[in-house]
Amino acid sequence: MSGMGEAAARSRVADISLASAGHQAIDWARRHSPVLDGFIRQRLEDGALTGRKVAVVVHLEAKTAFLATVLADAGAIVVAAGSNPWTTRDDVAAALVERGIEVHSSRRSAPEVWEADLMKVADTEPEYIIDDGAELTVRIARDRPDVYSRLKGVSEETTTGVARLRQLEEAGRLPMPAIAANDAACKHMFDNRYGTGQSTIQAILHLTNLRLPGKRVAIVGYGWVGRGIANYVHSLGGRVVAVEVDPIKALEAHTDGHEVANLMTALGGADLVITATGGMRSIAERHFSALAPSTVLANAGHHDLEIDVPALRDSSTSAEEVRPGVTRFMLDGEKPVFVLAEGALVNIAGGLGHPVEIMDLSFSVQALGCHLLASGDLSPGVHEFPAELDEEIATAKLASEGIRLDVLEEGQSDTLSGLLKADTWRSSGSQ
Ligand code: NAI
Repeated sequence: MSGMGEAAARSRVADISLASAGHQAIDWARRHSPVLDGFIRQRLEDGALTGRKVAVVVHLEAKTAFLATVLADAGAIVVAAGSNPWTTRDDVAAALVERGIEVHSSRRSAPEVWEADLMKVADTEPEYIIDDGAELTVRIARDRPDVYSRLKGVSEETTTGVARLRQLEEAGRLPMPAIAANDAACKHMFDNRYGTGQSTIQAILHLTNLRLPGKRVAIVGYGWVGRGIANYVHSLGGRVVAVEVDPIKALEAHTDGHEVANLMTALGGADLVITATGGMRSIAERHFSALAPSTVLANAGHHDLEIDVPALRDSSTSAEEVRPGVTRFMLDGEKPVFVLAEGALVNIAGGLGHPVEIMDLSFSVQALGCHLLASGDLSPGVHEFPAELDEEIATAKLASEGIRLDVLEEGQSDTLSGLLKADTWRSSGSQ
């Protein structure tokens, strides 16, 4: 059987005949990913990944698929699944299978089907996981202890996933190294902040066909994601009201020029509410009474747990999809509120995901994280992504855009020893 035939026999995708559109989408991602397609490919040529089994469990769309192909081209045996049952692109999944990569995923699959897909990936006994939300890692830890004990490393994409890995470590249940790819500057700052900021607002405007000027937008959680969203809301004429539980973050939102309020106050005047906390049920049943009529609710945090949509359904007299991806819930029989993408990540389930150029950075971090796991001898536990690799990615990105950096010249560096010289001290006074 050919590589494609073998992959097809082992895979579960919606429809292999969709592959042609998927190939086009992956090629578009490649064209706009100069770092992954250049610098990273070269770095992976050393053979460290040859024959290594790598599971890629990230939202399965074109940019992720391109990452999977780069790893496969470097000799890895790649198997892929979606990290969320809502976000897989069926054409892209089909294209990966045609390229000989095993895939277990389809869009909007039922929760139990998605769980079964992840277990199929677990059963391939991956050595390394590129994970999102630690979705595969925690399931292998719970349900496949043998596979878990042989796992050689995890590189994690999200804030939520890194938190889960640290919990496993604290519980003494992380016997392998894990890289907090999320915490790399080239990932966290650009992906969470600018990527999610742009793609969340883009998806909300696309799904609702509304505009932002004059609208009050409550942003629940002012971390990297929240502040990125706030930046785009503000740029497009919306008025931000930030909700926080951390006083430093709340002060930051205030200093950035936004209104800051507690949740119940913010909900009362909001046209649009966006959750970005990474926690569970930031909008729960007890908050529904504070929502103004016709409020639009959207979630940008991990998974679909931030807005309690099941409780909203139970509290409503009707629930109807009034536009694709927009569900109207009638609270108390007379107050409509609208939920986007059923409370799943609005930018991915209801939009196109992050801009390609941003994912070029994020997935370069992931690829180098995987390479580091396969080539180094990191000790068990959660590791920071090395700063020197972060800088190499940033340098490659700047070079790909034709941007050159300055370097410190003689006399511009070493400020302490300069200051300590008596002449400098006298001439600069005693401040
Ligand atoms: P972060 O930790 O920097 O920020 C979260 C903020 O929420 C913190 O400042 C925290 O104090 C605040 N918070 C927590 N619970 C709260 C509550 N109940 N009410 C008000 N504030 C609360 O995390 P980051 O990087 O901003 O990520 C947030 C979430 O977004 C995570 O789940 C992450 O995985 C997810 N994410 C989603 C992306 C997407 O494409 N939609 C992309 C990147 C991250």
